Amino acid sequence: MATQRSNKPIGSRLAARDGFTSGLGVLLATLGSAVGLGNIWKFPSLTGTNGGAAFIIVYLISTLLVGLPVMIAEHVMGRTARADAITTLRKLAPGKLWWLVGAAGVLASFLIMAFYTEVAGWVFAYIVKAVTGGILSTDPAVTGQAFADLIASPSQSLLWQWIVLAWVGLIIALGVSKGIERVTKRLMPILLGLLVIICIRSLTLPGAAEGLKFLFNPDFTKLTGPVVLAAMGLSFFKLSVGMGTMITYGSYFREDQNIPATAARVMLADLTVSILAGIAIFPAVFSYGFEPGAGPSLLFITIPSVFASMPLGQVFMIMFFILTAIAATGAMLSLLEVPVAFLNEKLRLPRVTATIVTVVLLALVGSTAALSSSTLASTKVLGKTFFDLFDFATSNVLLPVGGFFITLFVGWVWGKAQVMNALTNQGALKNERIVNLFIGVCKFVTPVLVFIVLLNGLGLF
Ligand code: PHE
Repeated sequence: MATQRSNKPIGSRLAARDGFTSGLGVLLATLGSAVGLGNIWKFPSLTGTNGGAAFIIVYLISTLLVGLPVMIAEHVMGRTARADAITTLRKLAPGKLWWLVGAAGVLASFLIMAFYTEVAGWVFAYIVKAVTGGILSTDPAVTGQAFADLIASPSQSLLWQWIVLAWVGLIIALGVSKGIERVTKRLMPILLGLLVIICIRSLTLPGAAEGLKFLFNPDFTKLTGPVVLAAMGLSFFKLSVGMGTMITYGSYFREDQNIPATAARVMLADLTVSILAGIAIFPAVFSYGFEPGAGPSLLFITIPSVFASMPLGQVFMIMFFILTAIAATGAMLSLLEVPVAFLNEKLRLPRVTATIVTVVLLALVGSTAALSSSTLASTKVLGKTFFDLFDFATSNVLLPVGGFFITLFVGWVWGKAQVMNALTNQGALKNERIVNLFIGVCKFVTPVLVFIVLLNGLGLF
């Protein structure tokens, strides 16, 4: 069989295909996808308000039973087929309708990009505002006004979204190894370094313990049904699964990559980043007596005021928004790669053309999300602005549906021997027990849990 150390295995048809060149590259690009805005505003505030350490335990279990199995399933499907998300399912299930799962994934990643680029645009804008001092006020009313002005301005919203699209488009156009891998390999260590520096700053402020208590104090009475469902849903979005990003990245993995171990490392590292983000944020928030808000108001209104309150606050504020921009960048690279890989490989557009086509389409569709707080604020579809509609359609519908069918496919359709062969690297890894466990979970556990998350997301449960 294929030599285990070769990066260009099995036949010449693959020789020309770009891919990750090292194990570390795989790890950092995949971690780059998982680490995103979710770590900075979703995870810490959900943890703080839903039982602290108790929530972290539930999240960990959810990830082990939901997010992680889907991630392993996607990686192994992609690596086996060595193709974009749609072609992967066509190859693994020829003549069947399973390719629709890939198509839903391409659609989902496109729609997530349409609103994620807008939030990322605000983050990029905030780096500039932090540098110029525009958000350097200890009064949340002032920072709140700065945020309101930003999102209410059509030209600012569109401009920052386009800057973000140009930035990720440029990296994607450079390719998988020269673009995604090279950039994430440089940026992820910077992200971790900045995060640790801000954590130390936050922890050494007077009264930091109050914030740690908010974040970690276990309160098991807060673990209601909706909280458990929220944790399961979050494990999906957090690990970037259910929309073909991990199929696409898996298709660039090396033949000798240990997929279950890689996915487990990414999951643990991503969880660590989330917890560190909480430690960076909440001790400082409490130290200066601010209310721990959630979502956009925490990130764009409270946090600037918190930093403005501390000595050398401007420097820490700049560092914080750079780190958030890096986190968003890694996530967006993996999202943009899904449609670009499809156009490039399936429709045979040159990579640069495929990137330009996708970015232009995103600028058009994404503008409806960008203008959701201004020009299009009163234009509603199904009672939602475009921004909220894209968020709802992906997080609550497309991702769970994708994850459901992916685990069903791997658990019941693809064939145990094939899955075993692919995940043991043709027997080279002695991990049969783990693979057996994985197959069992994919068969009986994950689809059931994901189905419940789906019903809940649709308001039916
Ligand atoms: N995992 C990213 C985050 O936590 C979001 C994401 C979802 C990225 C889907 C890619 C695909 O922010």
